[in-house]
Amino acid sequence: MTSPKTKTAIFISGRGSNMVALVEASKAADFPADFALVVSNDPTAAGLEWAASQGIDTLAVDHKTYGKDREAHERAIDAELRARGIEFICLAGYMRILTPWLVEQWSGKMINIHPSLLPKYKGLHTHERAIEAGDAEGGCSIHWVSPGVDDGDVIAQARVPILDGDTPDALAARVLKEEHKLYAATVRQILTKK
Ligand code: GAR
Repeated sequence: MTSPKTKTAIFISGRGSNMVALVEASKAADFPADFALVVSNDPTAAGLEWAASQGIDTLAVDHKTYGKDREAHERAIDAELRARGIEFICLAGYMRILTPWLVEQWSGKMINIHPSLLPKYKGLHTHERAIEAGDAEGGCSIHWVSPGVDDGDVIAQARVPILDGDTPDALAARVLKEEHKLYAATVRQILTKK
């Protein structure tokens, strides 16, 4: 007998190419996640339209409506997740720093993909910083979400060489291809073990 799939939400803020990779991977019969909801803090995020075109439930909760009250924004999202029976969250280009409150609610059930070889280059402009530092390699990391920004335990990483004359955009594109493969493989591994 096959075990039931884990009802999973993907959080995005923009184009959502990692979301697309996850959803495509989940079309395999033995994939352990059911991507039942795509959430965005930005109602204009391009990825929302793609998710809807796939028949996936979407939810836009505009953070601007909540002013400086980040927790109120997250409580509104959290209520929707609970109402839908979501069990696991994949952050995929979700460009909001989470409050300790949300992190605590989803402790051990929320992972993020970050475009650097953590612990190097937390935060923004990761590829530019790797090139400027003269690093031989760039890459991406998937980690458990903890209260510190890009700070939780690393689950998996993929590496790419940094080439002579690389630009941040060229490196980002090379890393992004690896992100897509790594995210799907890591979700498969984590949720198959559960
Ligand atoms: C990805 O490169 C992801 O690693 C990064 O944003 C991009 C989103 O692309 N995430 C972060 O920087 C989070 N700190 P996508 O919307 O096409 O998946």
